[in-house]
Amino acid sequence: MPMGYVGKRIARVDSPDKVTGKSIFPADLYFDGMLHAKVLWSEYPHARILGIDASAARAYPGVVAVLTAEDVPVNEYGINIMDQRVLAQDKVRSVGDPVALVIAESERTAGAARRLIVVEYQELPGVFDPREAMAPGAPLVHEEKGTNVLKHFFVRKGDVAAGFAQADVIVEGYYHTPHQEHAYLQPEAGVGLIDEQGRVTVYVAAQWPHDDVHQIAHALNLPETQVRECVTAIGGAFGGREDISLQILVALGAYKTRRPVKLVYTREESIRGHGKRHPFFMRHRTGATRDGLLVAAEIELISDAGAYASTSIPVLANATSFAAGPYQIPNVSIDTYTVYTNNLVTMAMRGFGSTQPPIGYESQMDKLAERLGLDPVEFRARNVLVNGSIAPTGCVMEHGVGMKEALERAAQAAGWQRKSSTWTRPQIAQPKEPNKRLGLGVACSWKNVGYSFGFDDKAGARVELYLGRGGAIERAVVKIGASDVGQGVETALAQIAAETLQVPIDRIEMMLSDTAVVPNAGSSSASRHVFMSGSAVQRACQEALGRLGGQEAGAGQSVVAEYIFRGREAHPTTNFDPVTGLCDPHISYGYVADVALVQVDTETGQAELVKMWAAQDVGRAINPTMIEGQVDGGVLMGQGYALLEEWIQERGYIKTRNFTEYLIPTVLDVPKEIVPIIVEVPDHGGPFGAKGVGEMTTIGVAPAILNAIHDATGVWIEELPASAERIHQALKKKAGK
Ligand code: MOS
Repeated sequence: MPMGYVGKRIARVDSPDKVTGKSIFPADLYFDGMLHAKVLWSEYPHARILGIDASAARAYPGVVAVLTAEDVPVNEYGINIMDQRVLAQDKVRSVGDPVALVIAESERTAGAARRLIVVEYQELPGVFDPREAMAPGAPLVHEEKGTNVLKHFFVRKGDVAAGFAQADVIVEGYYHTPHQEHAYLQPEAGVGLIDEQGRVTVYVAAQWPHDDVHQIAHALNLPETQVRECVTAIGGAFGGREDISLQILVALGAYKTRRPVKLVYTREESIRGHGKRHPFFMRHRTGATRDGLLVAAEIELISDAGAYASTSIPVLANATSFAAGPYQIPNVSIDTYTVYTNNLVTMAMRGFGSTQPPIGYESQMDKLAERLGLDPVEFRARNVLVNGSIAPTGCVMEHGVGMKEALERAAQAAGWQRKSSTWTRPQIAQPKEPNKRLGLGVACSWKNVGYSFGFDDKAGARVELYLGRGGAIERAVVKIGASDVGQGVETALAQIAAETLQVPIDRIEMMLSDTAVVPNAGSSSASRHVFMSGSAVQRACQEALGRLGGQEAGAGQSVVAEYIFRGREAHPTTNFDPVTGLCDPHISYGYVADVALVQVDTETGQAELVKMWAAQDVGRAINPTMIEGQVDGGVLMGQGYALLEEWIQERGYIKTRNFTEYLIPTVLDVPKEIVPIIVEVPDHGGPFGAKGVGEMTTIGVAPAILNAIHDATGVWIEELPASAERIHQALKKKAGK
């Protein structure tokens, strides 16, 4: 009889330790003889380093070492392209560049000695807007590359000129999204030490421990077997812990001093020391026929990569594939660019290139619907991708396309009705106060699951079954390098193992943390662990069961199986065609429909999210409670992006240095109601039909809010955040004042 663990609202297996304070975060760690480190950061966004005098710092009592570029065996790292320096060499390219590392007997001593380091800089002209950085003659961030343009992608599908010729209505728009800070609760912290086997070992909160090991080993010029990373409890990640932050610094400190070295960032250092969400500049031209069918889209996206590549190229690739939205459009032309500047590096953040595009394409959809006199739900329903549709990148969306189901479920929940086969919006009662206006806004969005564009995405899992009387499974150990960043992967994988093995969940023991022990399962990113690692766990369990059946198993014996699941087993992907840019980019997709109810104060311009209906096509809900938790968090993150958050640099200097200057939503900003709607259109490539959900919950929130602001006031806000000031200015302009 099936146990039925999949689909159940199991309490999270990591909750008891989290709520009782037993979980160990990296700043909690202490080791005998431990030293403390402090980073000296770059003073300038762009400057040549003429010299570093660390003699006074080195002579300061209690200082053990001051490390600079010349102490790093191979001074380079980077998750995609190794264009970053562990410690600045010859020049600095942003104020987030570490220049020196002070290691001392106490944190206070390290901080005091840091101030004694004298760096002689020659300031260089910088470039701070990617559009200016593209221009000929702009100062070069990496001279040897000869250009600041890091990557250009394009897609040519159909004939755009012919498409626009068929269009009865064409709308144009220019949209801008700002930097966004991950704002996780736990600032970066870590300890490096040499373990009892002589391995350089790093304790840290990380999204992809095995890739960290790869980069640490490269920088220290050690074989990967001589490096180990142990993942502690993680206080939030959202993409911000996908790259290296202080991992190599603490590893280098331990390698040089042979003692444990701890480094803990302050909040201001965290904000300076890790990258941000990419700002995008987006130009759209979209055409539709009077029947409400999309016929052409012409799109240009420019993203600010900041000083280093990080994941700017894959983020841009994703953005390219999602740029036109989850719609059937016969003629599409897309050009996208990511460009180096002397701003802080930009990197992965929840959505990974699928968060900025809907600000553009969903504003365009509402502008078109208004011009066509169509209800926004009705207009979308006529154009959304369904099974068998051709995506904007030219591939056939064969199965599992739940966009229409998600849209209909969200619209119905928010009060839309289907009258004579047309979607009709609900009447909403306006507040009595003359300066308060309510509006409803709709947004569709989509996001990939797993690594894309032909990349060989894989996840490994090892399952060990320990047998009791009569050969029954007494205990099952699941080893897999999947970081639980708060998304609940540990619980989801335990459920999948319990279901597959038909063993009570309290007999499943999860081991996620130590790269020396667990197989590489890839990163906690791309909303991929349930699909990829869930498949690996499911198949490893099935193999173990198969072996169990084939042998005379008795008490005290054990059975072991390992499985490496590859995304291409589910769906092979392809890279952009060199001539047309057409591709079949992604393994699987999540589809999202959001409806926002927003109240705007037309005197002050203040917009308030009152209620949110959020429909997620997750394929199959492994744990509905955890999905609802993702929806709550995703809506708040999207709400912050829409209304509040603006991480500001002025000519490369950080102006929003902490949480009094950078505002994120607090409990007082939470909408009165968030209605999660779980849609299950299965993807047969995923375990039990599951897709992914972590990032999808946030991507449609901001565009739904912008469309609701327009519905309430008649103004289009095309630049985030839709702050009171920006809405107020737009209202004044509309009134002709
Ligand atoms: Mo995530 S933004 O794919 O780390």
